[in-house]
Amino acid sequence: MDKLVIHGGVPLRGSVAVSGSKNAALPLMVASLLAASGKTIITRVPDLRDIETLSNLLRIIGARVEFYDHTLAISASAISHTEAPYELVKKMRASIYVLGPLLARFGRARVSLPGGCAWGPRPVDLHLEAMKKLGASVELDDGYIVAKAKRKRLTGAKIDFKISSVGATGNALMAAVLAKGSSRMTNAAIEPEITALAKFLVKMGAKISGIGTTTLEIEGVEELYATRDENICDRIEAGTLLAAAAITKGHITLTDADPLQFKEVLKKFELAGCKIKTTASSVELISPAKLKATNVEAKVYPKFPTDMQAQWSALMTQADGTSKITDSIYADRFKHVPELNRLGADIELRQNSAIVRGKKKLQGAKVMSTDLRASASLILAGLAASGTTEVLRVYHLDRGYEKIEQKLAALGARITREKYDEFAAPKPDDD
Ligand code: EPZ
Repeated sequence: MDKLVIHGGVPLRGSVAVSGSKNAALPLMVASLLAASGKTIITRVPDLRDIETLSNLLRIIGARVEFYDHTLAISASAISHTEAPYELVKKMRASIYVLGPLLARFGRARVSLPGGCAWGPRPVDLHLEAMKKLGASVELDDGYIVAKAKRKRLTGAKIDFKISSVGATGNALMAAVLAKGSSRMTNAAIEPEITALAKFLVKMGAKISGIGTTTLEIEGVEELYATRDENICDRIEAGTLLAAAAITKGHITLTDADPLQFKEVLKKFELAGCKIKTTASSVELISPAKLKATNVEAKVYPKFPTDMQAQWSALMTQADGTSKITDSIYADRFKHVPELNRLGADIELRQNSAIVRGKKKLQGAKVMSTDLRASASLILAGLAASGTTEVLRVYHLDRGYEKIEQKLAALGARITREKYDEFAAPKPDDD
């Protein structure tokens, strides 16, 4: 198993390129199942465990998937199997994205119900309701979703999402584009990853209007075609790297980063006292001598993203004053708090808020990753802590950050990846 060993206290300096977006690449990969012929090419795909997991799922379904030098080539002409097995879905809940395309193209799908995740249940009721609206029967059998198009083909429908859901919007969109007739979705998610998916589907021949707004109109078509597209930047990796600079009183520039995709995050860095300079494809952050306590509330886009909430909590341990960090998307996404407190932070949980008392001198220690973004917050704290911090179980991190330790080391951080045996008995001290 791998751990990251960090010797904190070094202000980060220099520039680093941001990888392609994990949360945009995943739905684009699944959308390629909608093309009955040709080879879909997606460039700037990050080399991550989640990408590998979904590639394996697409292969089980019968697609040919090649991944080389951050480029995916997917051919879905020979798809034979319309089942997503539990063994893969439990590794990554985004596997449920295959439900819509399999139903749209083959009229049937058997997809394992995803489990929960580190911070609690992750329901999929909105996905299932949307499929029913589009004319599918949906049963639960033996932990699997068994869906069938009542007529041979899905039929267009009006889908009013009672809450904004990135995954349900993406799934419904990929089902509606091949349905017979038109569909209209309201309260659709407008995260950049969904906008990128909609544009990708249009390049495949889909008819979608209202892209980038919460109301999407879709005119179903008979067939979609393989296309080629470049993936967008990972706005969460970008925010995480900026937080690494700010927490170490550093000065960095991100390249290949589109600041328009994370305006609210940049606004919060400015409120915290950071100087932010942007171009169309770069973001420069200069840290202040003293960070200001800055409250955030994680909400749907374009508000502050829940995927940056843990990282912000780590940053605010160094701010002058007390900050309140609320997550209105996932009320219990705070597994990082006890671990941050082990490093000397003073964070109190109150319902779905973390109250972070700032200006805490963090002291390195062994800490345990519990989920992707919690791991990131522990690394940030380790970069600011005196002494050595060991972040264990970084396989969580490898799901969503490509070689983060190399990116941070290139900015001057003293961070290395080392093997360790989690269950080795502690070695007796040498005499
Ligand atoms: C996506 O998950 C992201 N994952 C998550 O990023 C992100 O945290 C989340 O959106 C919110 O922005 C991917 O894109 C692969 P939702 P998703 O459906 O689609 C509730 C990361 O760290 N809900 O927008 O699963 C749900 O419980 C990951 O990269 C239902 O009630 O999120 C939550 O409270 C973690 N019923 C809210 O909606 C449903 O059927 C938003 O969830 C679906 C969701």
